[in-house]
Amino acid sequence: MPEEISRTVTTVSSMREAVRGLLSAAGISDPQVDADLLIGFVLDASRGRVQAMAITDTAVSPDDAATINELTTRRAAREPLQHITGQAPFRSLVLAVGPGVFVPRPETEQVTQIAIDRLNQSELPEPIAVDLGTGSGAIALALATEVPRARVFAVEKSVDAFLWTRRNFDAVAAPNATLVLGDLADAFPEIDGTADVVISNPPYIPDAAIPREVEVRLHDPGAALYGGEDGLDVVRAVSTRAQMLLHPGGTLILEHGEEQGPGIRALLAADGWRTPRTTPDLSGRDRATSAIR
Ligand SMILES: C[S@@+](CC[C@H](N)C(=O)[O-])C[C@H]1O[C@@H](n2cnc3c(N)ncnc32)[C@H](O)[C@@H]1O
Repeated sequence: MPEEISRTVTTVSSMREAVRGLLSAAGISDPQVDADLLIGFVLDASRGRVQAMAITDTAVSPDDAATINELTTRRAAREPLQHITGQAPFRSLVLAVGPGVFVPRPETEQVTQIAIDRLNQSELPEPIAVDLGTGSGAIALALATEVPRARVFAVEKSVDAFLWTRRNFDAVAAPNATLVLGDLADAFPEIDGTADVVISNPPYIPDAAIPREVEVRLHDPGAALYGGEDGLDVVRAVSTRAQMLLHPGGTLILEHGEEQGPGIRALLAADGWRTPRTTPDLSGRDRATSAIR
């Protein structure tokens, strides 16, 4: 190979280093992970494969290098990685996401497990689960696919988010999942008194507590984040609606902020729920509260 060309050859190894450096300088908390995921997205390779390609000094074509550079600039400007790739992994699913819809988070995967366990414990042939404020459809579609005998109902109020919800429901095509556009306050009156599980990851941030993280502040929709002055407006609406949807003995599962466990337990107890209990996640943070109707 002539020396001039060989000097312009870009390798996975050098790109990993360069992308990591740029993302680190932009203040991204785990720059190597994001570098590998961005490069892997362009090269259609898993993270492990990207690492293997770096070890073997695989070359990157000029076109791919240009795309990687372009996406790195977007990520360095703090656009969420999931908006750049258009994808968010959630349990066994890969969901389509972008502007207008909340990007599902790993902590919600654990909260969803509580609902899955509850449904699996049910002796009913077709236990019913309801996801209030479904966003991308993450929780509802995980429940519908992982507990195929369950019937799952999901509601989303934001039209912008619903475009993504619809797309994900269409792609997963779970026959046991029903989706509606509407307000959770009056969703699914036809199943009142029959649901076994109501789950919600509602907006719960107090209006004045603007998140510091740019990706959240600028790119997650406000309707997915903010829950009024004390953050609990939608939690109150979920509690009221879930009382009607669940049969006696049914379970409400709420995701919430780390500091909100005591406030939410008090709110639920005042609404007449039995045994409100906050469960720590795998990192010991109080992110979910369950209660029995
Ligand atoms: C924090 S996001 C959670 C989305 C998804 N369940 C997840 O965990 O990734 C909250 C969602 O609730 C929706 N939402 C807020 N208020 C609602 C209401 N009154 N009725 C229905 N959906 C609502 C928001 O638009 C947003 O999509």
